[in-house]
Amino acid sequence: MVKRKGIILAGGNGSRLYPITKATSKQLIPVYDKPMIYYPLSTLMLAGIRDILIITTPNDRVTFEKLLGNGSQFGISIKYKIQAKPEGIAQAFLIAEEFIKNSSVTLILGDNLFHGDFLVNQLQKNYLLNEGASIFAYSVSDPQRYGVVEFDSKGIAYNIEEKPINPKSKFAITGLYFYDNSVVEKAKKIKPSDRGELEITDLNKMYMKEGKLNVEKMNRGMTWLDTGTTDSLHEAASYIRTLERRQGLKIGCPEEVAWRMDFIDDDQLYSLSIDLKKSGYGEYLQNILNESKNSSGSYKY
Ligand code: G1P
Repeated sequence: MVKRKGIILAGGNGSRLYPITKATSKQLIPVYDKPMIYYPLSTLMLAGIRDILIITTPNDRVTFEKLLGNGSQFGISIKYKIQAKPEGIAQAFLIAEEFIKNSSVTLILGDNLFHGDFLVNQLQKNYLLNEGASIFAYSVSDPQRYGVVEFDSKGIAYNIEEKPINPKSKFAITGLYFYDNSVVEKAKKIKPSDRGELEITDLNKMYMKEGKLNVEKMNRGMTWLDTGTTDSLHEAASYIRTLERRQGLKIGCPEEVAWRMDFIDDDQLYSLSIDLKKSGYGEYLQNILNESKNSSGSYKY
């Protein structure tokens, strides 16, 4: 089986969130109780991916490294690369060429937040994809903000348009993309769009032309939120707060995911909890550890 690596694209100048992001990266600001990047990081880890590259702006790289280090605390490897200017999502594959080598690769946008029951199955099934591409479509009320996909009567995707003024469907393409190794060569062929970016939609269309693009609908029981504007950021934080307070379970907690996926053991989880105790985050980690040891049991993935 071909190995699958992961990329988190955390570049961009976040100008739609100014002044919040004038002096800091968008993906480092909080979504309720943790930095935004914890969510996409947890999603990649849930997919079983343990070799991760984070692409940042030149200024923010040091801060990301301070937060996440080399990933060994989560039983994974994290490396860093810089995107000098925000020249498009597909540029990630040019920046990451050396990292990807002969692997398959999953890209997640650093401001995308996924949650829901089918996520783990959907992610782990796509981990195994060796040829072609798999992306996800999700019904939204404002498709014109996204890449929009059209399906034929058999549910096969036949067209994608980037930010259309008159969207032909409600289905937006989410910021989570599973590709085979040909993605790097394909990315090299993309020309900048009118807005001067290497568009991920053009890349997906190349796979579509070859008949190798699988577009899966994420059902309505799943949650996909993006956090690119002040309102969507606030909504995402409220969603996380509501569920976490109701269930007593955290969403997008890489320490917990690492432990439940057996990337780290009980002792390692306990040591991670010590530093985090004052905010309640560490206490949460100790609680899930204790629950697993007594008969009341806890959720497993
Ligand atoms: C990008 C993609 C778009 C996709 C969206 C998901 O948009 O270009 O196709 O639907 O991410 O978040 P952007 O972040 O450039 O607005």
